[in-house]
Amino acid sequence: MAATSTGQETWSGKAAFVFAAVGSAVGLGNLWRFPYAAGENGGGAFVLLYILCIVAIGLPVLAAELFLGRRGGGSAVAAIRRLAEADGRSGAWSLFAWVGMVASFLIVTFYSVIAGWVLYYAWTLIVDLFTSIADQGLAGLTGGAFHGQERAAIEGQLGQLLASPGKMILCHAIFIGLTTWIVSRGVKGGIEAAVTILMPTFFVLLVILSIFAMIQGQAVTALGFLFAPDWSALGERLSDGSILLSAIGQAFFSLSLGSAMMITYGLYLGRDQSIPGSASIVVAADTGVALIAGLAIFPIVFQFGLEPAGGPGLMFGTLPLAFSQMPFGSIFGIAFFLMAFFAALTSSISLLEVATAFADGDVDLDVEEKRRRRVVGAAVLGLVAFLVGCGHALSVVPAEVADTFFNDWHPLGFLPLFEGQTLLDATDGLTTYVLLPFGGLMTAIFAGWVVSRTASREELHFASEAGYRRWRFLVRWVCPLFVGAVLVYGAVVSPWLSGRPAAEAEPVETAPALPPEQQ
Ligand code: PFF
Repeated sequence: MAATSTGQETWSGKAAFVFAAVGSAVGLGNLWRFPYAAGENGGGAFVLLYILCIVAIGLPVLAAELFLGRRGGGSAVAAIRRLAEADGRSGAWSLFAWVGMVASFLIVTFYSVIAGWVLYYAWTLIVDLFTSIADQGLAGLTGGAFHGQERAAIEGQLGQLLASPGKMILCHAIFIGLTTWIVSRGVKGGIEAAVTILMPTFFVLLVILSIFAMIQGQAVTALGFLFAPDWSALGERLSDGSILLSAIGQAFFSLSLGSAMMITYGLYLGRDQSIPGSASIVVAADTGVALIAGLAIFPIVFQFGLEPAGGPGLMFGTLPLAFSQMPFGSIFGIAFFLMAFFAALTSSISLLEVATAFADGDVDLDVEEKRRRRVVGAAVLGLVAFLVGCGHALSVVPAEVADTFFNDWHPLGFLPLFEGQTLLDATDGLTTYVLLPFGGLMTAIFAGWVVSRTASREELHFASEAGYRRWRFLVRWVCPLFVGAVLVYGAVVSPWLSGRPAAEAEPVETAPALPPEQQ
């Protein structure tokens, strides 16, 4: 593990950083969240707004986060404090990095629970494959998944899992344990080693699956749904700000922005790496994966007459059904959930890394001391994330199965945006629709208005002055005004006026919540 003389680690090369940043960006946000957010918001119009948000806001904020991290050094908090003080401003600016760090930690607490579901599905499909082969020989290998099960039972897989808190918590424990172990090993030995194996495997599997879905399912309907905006529906949804808040929240979540995470990966960035170039690759890869994931899921949704607005259960209810009907469905099912598992792992590593980088101390510590602090820091953070995650898991268990405090606890219920939401939904909503947009907004203001023009120009090193000017205009004006307006209107004013949540606030439940024998 190479390190600079101060103990601050760096990526071993340009490709390593790009893999890690793409690994962070591409995750459950693309495979799980994007398809259901698009489905709930009417398809094409949402996709269009999402792409606009990515290009006009996501890309400039990503470049800003990376340069702030590289120029500041240490941890995200230390970097922002140092940069503010260097320009004669108050160190209190680092408060927004604190908010980002808290947001990334909160995200990992529920992200790990959802990733646990993915792990459970992968495991169930593997067991199912072996049982089928034992029963039917080679036909078990070539046939669909969940052999012999009724459609309702297959679609109700998630309902069954939600009714099994023990299984959910076990899978969450395995996932957060793995994340913690990798993060404790450091940037090169842990994060880099993991992403360089996991990400290429992920891409190959995704492309194969989407081609398969397009051939087997209703490709034309899916393409129309995703890419042909329904303008009348758009007008309606724009009025309450919900679609804009969903699109912005999704853009920040998917690109891992506003959570101090890209500032943290920027800390380890070499001076020879082009920030505008790397940021463009990350944005292109992340958006491409979200769209391809849509093309892997929606043809199947339409093929089986399912509801595109199926909510958070879309990936867990729809795809298993498709796998049950396809030739080689078991193999594809296993491939899909393993792929989602890899993508989730590379993202959760980055989520835990933000607070771990803070725990391992500033740049002036020596290598050994930093390493010791990293191991302890990661272990403590991983343990707390596990415990909070147990609360998330219990909050989605039906009260008939396990009647705990979490069934009926609405931690942010006093705010209209989160009315009626239990722990998992409220944490997801708070981070995605409030904390990340807020973090992105503050990053833009800080990079555009507080850090000197000389510093940003030198650090970003655009190929042309016009490129730099465009970036500066976007972070100084477009991001603060647009994100600020959407945040205030969509998260505060509109829910207050209408007395209902603005952004989608579906409970993370899919019918049937309980298998018949447990009702
Ligand atoms: N971008 C990740 C995804 O799309 O799944 C989630 C995420 C990772 C959000 C890291 C925020 C973050 F800091």
